[in-house]
Amino acid sequence: MKETKLWINGKWVETKDTYTLTSPYDGQPIASVAKASTSDVERAIEGAHKAFQSFKKTTAYERAEILYKVVDIMRGRKQEFAEILAKEAGKPLSAGLTEIDRTIATYQFSAEAAKQSTGETVPMDAAPGTKDRIGFTKRVPLGVVSAITPFNFPFNLVAHKLGPAIAVGNTVVLKPANQTPLSAIVMAEIFKEAGLPDGVLQIVTGSGSELSDSLITHPLVKKVTFTGSGAVGLKIKEKVGLRKVTLELGSNAALIIEPSTPIDKIISRCVGGAFGFAGQVCISLQRIYIHESIYDQFTNAFVEETKKLTVGNPLDPATDVSAMIHPKEVERMKIWIEEAKEQGAKVATGAEFTERWMTPTVMTNVKPDMKIVCLETFAPIVSLVPYKTLDEAIEYVNESDLGLNAGIYTNVLTDALKAADEMEAGTIVINDIPTFRVDNMPYGGVKNSGYGREGIKYAIQEMTDLKFITIKTTY
Ligand code: SIN
Repeated sequence: MKETKLWINGKWVETKDTYTLTSPYDGQPIASVAKASTSDVERAIEGAHKAFQSFKKTTAYERAEILYKVVDIMRGRKQEFAEILAKEAGKPLSAGLTEIDRTIATYQFSAEAAKQSTGETVPMDAAPGTKDRIGFTKRVPLGVVSAITPFNFPFNLVAHKLGPAIAVGNTVVLKPANQTPLSAIVMAEIFKEAGLPDGVLQIVTGSGSELSDSLITHPLVKKVTFTGSGAVGLKIKEKVGLRKVTLELGSNAALIIEPSTPIDKIISRCVGGAFGFAGQVCISLQRIYIHESIYDQFTNAFVEETKKLTVGNPLDPATDVSAMIHPKEVERMKIWIEEAKEQGAKVATGAEFTERWMTPTVMTNVKPDMKIVCLETFAPIVSLVPYKTLDEAIEYVNESDLGLNAGIYTNVLTDALKAADEMEAGTIVINDIPTFRVDNMPYGGVKNSGYGREGIKYAIQEMTDLKFITIKTTY
């Protein structure tokens, strides 16, 4: 069995404690993973702080070259990385390959952004008595960034932290999800091969609140960037004090389907949005509001398409949906679905369970306060709800505390723009599902879905300070 270590100051470091990583698909052990102690984390942070003193002086060209090399190396190892995702996350191979392509794009955007981080000239003569002065801004790196990443996109969501941080000269202590440390660990060797100086990227694995607390509250940490659950995000926000923080949290993404929509053209896209990676995506399509005039037609077609999905081994290229990340998540969904059924909801298809997976599930007759509707399910389940007017549909969308992405299908421009104005979400997608992200777009939620934005250029704003410099040109 593979044994992993911590990556600190350019060296693999053994730990006293370890845990066994198991496959979500069959529960078989995959690796023995190093469990960092608080003192390991402190050493990693101190090393990153030391490395920052020289890394902050590197040029944009040098940092971009490192990131371009990462891109080149990753291009040659795609299949191997997709297999790591299948083994440790249970992600089907085709979805894994898509994630690797996106990761490569994310590092490429970061390399390009390294050269485009600019400031602006401020008109210093705009106020009275300010003759003979020049003023300009520049973006400067912060120092040590603590990055805490989730299991669902173990390569690409790590890239969304490392790429922009390194592009602008920060150093990073990365703590990947317990369930998916292998994808992160492989990045240590890739960055080393690409020429990243020792200490700029530190990787600590393990769990426990003490470990997380030191990542968040250590005085040398200048920024915390976290993707994960709302509950943990809130705790982080309470603890970071005056440090900068970015939180990418969950959602229960909604889609409105107006009567002008050609249903046959959108069904497979909607099914993909609801069940891709077993719904374990922050923008997974969880609520579909369908105009009553096309509700039956849409529901029948959607259910038929859902039944075609193949549930199976993530390493089998034919598999569409595989195991959930942990049996306790399957158990949680069983309870939520039972509870919804008791309150009147109906299962249109799915809701069959084994210990490790559940079949793609379509629910009807749901009510807004059912857990499967108002909370983030992070599971292969979607609710279909009819509506009468667009105003009513928008009200349904906004009934939620969450708001990452929302979508609307309509070919009526004024309705599309009305929905774009009125739906409460960080991103509005017109004529596509809300399960949509390109890695250079601003990405982040409103309400309880997050704080700040990612997407390389936007993450760079959040990972730098704005420094203002002014020169008096005469004595
Ligand atoms: C997420 O689940 O947080 C990210 C979704 C994506 O990048 O597609």
